[in-house]
Amino acid sequence: SWTMAGFRATEIARIRAQVGSGRVICGLSGGVDSSVAAVLIHEAIGDQLTCIFVDHGLLRQGEAEQVVETFRDRFNIRLVHRDASGLFLGALEGVTDPEVKRKTIGRLFIEVFEEEAARVGGADFLAQGTLYPDVIESVSFTGGPSVTIKSHHNVGGLPERMRMQLVEPLRELFKDEVRELGRELGMPETIIGRHPFPGPGLAIRIPGAVTREKADLLRKVDSIYLEEIRTAGLYDAIWQAFAVLLPVRTVGVMGDGRTYDMACALRAVTSTDGMTADVYPFDMAFLTRVAGRIVNEVRGVNRVTYDITSKPPGTIEWE
Ligand code: XMP
Repeated sequence: SWTMAGFRATEIARIRAQVGSGRVICGLSGGVDSSVAAVLIHEAIGDQLTCIFVDHGLLRQGEAEQVVETFRDRFNIRLVHRDASGLFLGALEGVTDPEVKRKTIGRLFIEVFEEEAARVGGADFLAQGTLYPDVIESVSFTGGPSVTIKSHHNVGGLPERMRMQLVEPLRELFKDEVRELGRELGMPETIIGRHPFPGPGLAIRIPGAVTREKADLLRKVDSIYLEEIRTAGLYDAIWQAFAVLLPVRTVGVMGDGRTYDMACALRAVTSTDGMTADVYPFDMAFLTRVAGRIVNEVRGVNRVTYDITSKPPGTIEWE
């Protein structure tokens, strides 16, 4: 019968057979999928693997540091960390259309990735943490025949000219199975239990033009929200929770004064594969506590709303 230990052993043998003495590069995003793929491949071929972490400056608070610490220091995986935040934020200046944002980030990601891959001397194979739902959802979508709802930049994204064979050990797995595999590989719960995070990062959680200031603001809001969710013991019951920084300013009152600051939305959903999702039913006391902390602790945000849309008809991310 099928077991995760069996899958691990089979995949390791398969990776070794496919790669031989070749060299593999893997794009690491800090997310669950690429992390598990990297650790599995590292277990199979050790230092024949180099991971490239393209940091677009649109990650959650403290995340970049955590990626480096975990993979380089704890797992001893060869890791290139490229801080390309200036490049990405520069290219996103004034870009408001969600698909243009996604395509801009996707294109730059490939450019920077290629640059770093060349710098480490190239490779014969490219590893990706592609999952089964990614494979399906990028081909068509539940919303209708061959309609692209959103272009996922991390699926089959690299150009032909890189001429590398793909190593995709997670291609037949669903998210919950990837997590199980991660546990099987001894990976810390902080990484494998983490909520999914989109490749384009906070850029698609800032409707309208993205700036470094807005990204910094959103990181603060998001980290308060996640901290409260963890404290309440709700993190694992939720598929994905995050904040969105809205492109509106609203009037508020603080002490004796009037404020005219930005509004944000909180989102939390339950799901099994991200294809459909239900709103997480927080109790009001929780929501008002989070709202109170955000408005009091994050200067520049004076209003908090909760998104109560399920998928469909909404999508999980706002863009
Ligand atoms: P939507 O917003 O389409 O999201 O309901 C479904 C799931 O996919 C994630 N998502 C992405 N993941 N690259 C990714 O790796 C992307 O470009 C991307 N866009 C959305 C989203 O966070 C949710 O878990």
